[in-house]
Amino acid sequence: MLRVPVFADPGLPNRGKCGKMIAKTTGDAHTEGTEEMAERIGIIGAMEEEVTTLIPALEDRAEKRIGIVNYYTGKLDGKEVVIAKSGVGKVNAALTAAEMIRTFGAGIVINTGVAGALDPSLDPEDAVIAEDLVQHDYSTAPLGDPPGRVSGVDLVHIPADPAIADAAEKAARELGVKRVLRGTIASGDQFISDAAKKEWIRKTFGGLACEMEGAAIAHACYLYGVRCAVIRSISDRADGEADVDFPTFAARAAALNAKIVRKVIASF
Ligand code: ADE
Repeated sequence: MLRVPVFADPGLPNRGKCGKMIAKTTGDAHTEGTEEMAERIGIIGAMEEEVTTLIPALEDRAEKRIGIVNYYTGKLDGKEVVIAKSGVGKVNAALTAAEMIRTFGAGIVINTGVAGALDPSLDPEDAVIAEDLVQHDYSTAPLGDPPGRVSGVDLVHIPADPAIADAAEKAARELGVKRVLRGTIASGDQFISDAAKKEWIRKTFGGLACEMEGAAIAHACYLYGVRCAVIRSISDRADGEADVDFPTFAARAAALNAKIVRKVIASF
């Protein structure tokens, strides 16, 4: 059980780094005070392959459908969790994260799945753990802002929770993952399979890997003051071969990544 601060104002100005503040697990975020509660952990994968090994592992499983998303609650490795396949892309991911926080009381949201490598040292089935996330397709640059700066939040790089990233790195190393890198993950509503676009993202944001949901989940968690982690395994190199590599490696990389996530959850 944790002593959980419940914030008075859901507005942005007093929001610290993602991970500094833990949302109240039920009710609304306007209530002042503190209360004792166990944190439920939300786990989001965009595709079937990314959650398929996790859902059958749930004890005391219950299922609730909201919109087109099924939310599975229960215990995973002794911890209260809610797991969902959000669907691909930033809107699906942000909606699912918000639902997990608001409806299911998630105090931590972990995004699991695969990613395209931006860093040239990465091979399929290597792991990338976000220290921060950017939306590479977000731009108000014509108005004088740097690329990726999220209006209102006023950040390009949205932070992930450092303690969960530490746990993920440890878990990946213990599982014998060949290369484990930590840094920026870039998200956008595009499957990247073009060397020039990949280089632009890498040069502009310094990202290690690209995918289509992580930054949206981090953004939603930041707005709600909920801890977040984005843990991904490489399925392709986001280049001209990505359309062939992705179907070849995605299922294996996603299953490996789910093992990393389970180890993280077991470590809490
Ligand atoms: N997820 C896995 N590979 C990807 C890529 N190349 N672009 C976007 N998302 C991905």
